[in-house]
Amino acid sequence: MEIFKTISEIRSYVKQERRAGKTIGFVPTMGYLHQGHLTLMKEAKKDNDIVIVSIFVNPTQFGPTEDYEEYPRNLEGDATLAKEVGVDIIFAPEVEEVYFKGAVTTVRIDGLTDRLCGASRVGHFDGVCTIVTKLFNIVNPDKAYFGQKDAQQVLVIKRMVADLNIDIEVVTVPIVREADGLAMSSRNKYLNQTEREAALVLYKSLQQAQQLIASEKVDAKLIKEEMIKLINQEPLAKIDYVEIVNQNNLEEINRVEGKVLIALAVYIGETRLIDNLMLELKN
Ligand code: PAJ
Repeated sequence: MEIFKTISEIRSYVKQERRAGKTIGFVPTMGYLHQGHLTLMKEAKKDNDIVIVSIFVNPTQFGPTEDYEEYPRNLEGDATLAKEVGVDIIFAPEVEEVYFKGAVTTVRIDGLTDRLCGASRVGHFDGVCTIVTKLFNIVNPDKAYFGQKDAQQVLVIKRMVADLNIDIEVVTVPIVREADGLAMSSRNKYLNQTEREAALVLYKSLQQAQQLIASEKVDAKLIKEEMIKLINQEPLAKIDYVEIVNQNNLEEINRVEGKVLIALAVYIGETRLIDNLMLELKN
């Protein structure tokens, strides 16, 4: 496995492999890798000859009061883990290699980004869409792998790929969880022991919603209220949002039917965590 720091290195590598007829799978990440990320890489390895992973903490997707500076970084540890799952190349550029002074182009998706995380993190998805477009253009993969953990992100990227005729297949990988149900996240590192226990409330609230739906409760407002009640019982938790929406357009729904996404963002102490559940219900 090799680590490339420059765009020209990765471009000439990809050109050469493409000429040899190899297919390329791409996993964009911000590093501090965990089993969630590694699962994406293993999926990519199954489907493609070559797997390229980018590790880049993208400044443009963090708000001014967010954790860009503190975001955990560990390139050496990441390289060891990536190598173990058969990654061929890590692309780990410096900020200056990716963003040059004078660039005036941003990729922005309307509508879909007004809600959920987009509503509480204004500008976040402009940063995500711009960096993902740039990485797609740099790496030029056949397939790119994204986690369902960031449900809105996958939807936005899929929409962007369709709208801009980008010739890349976007593959979605299910959420990978810790044994007790907490969705894996690089930000879990911020949690102390008490917060780590409190963080389980996100998953518990989704399980509670699932049980209510299984017992044929279809009123989204009622389900949301029960989730909120459960989360508010946890003193360290502060709700950012709890939403029950249509999976395709992220619009709020009143009746739980068809393809439903239940998504939430909750602060546990200072740490903002997200989780979600996708359901496909027969009417
Ligand atoms: P990051 O948070 O590092 O996540 C990289 C990829 O791993 C994303 O597609 C994310 O959904 C996936 N992932 C994270 N935790 C997961 C889990 N528990 N189960 C399954 N997949 C999981 O998302 C980003 O980085 C950035 O926004 C990026 C796309 C790299 C653009 O900067």
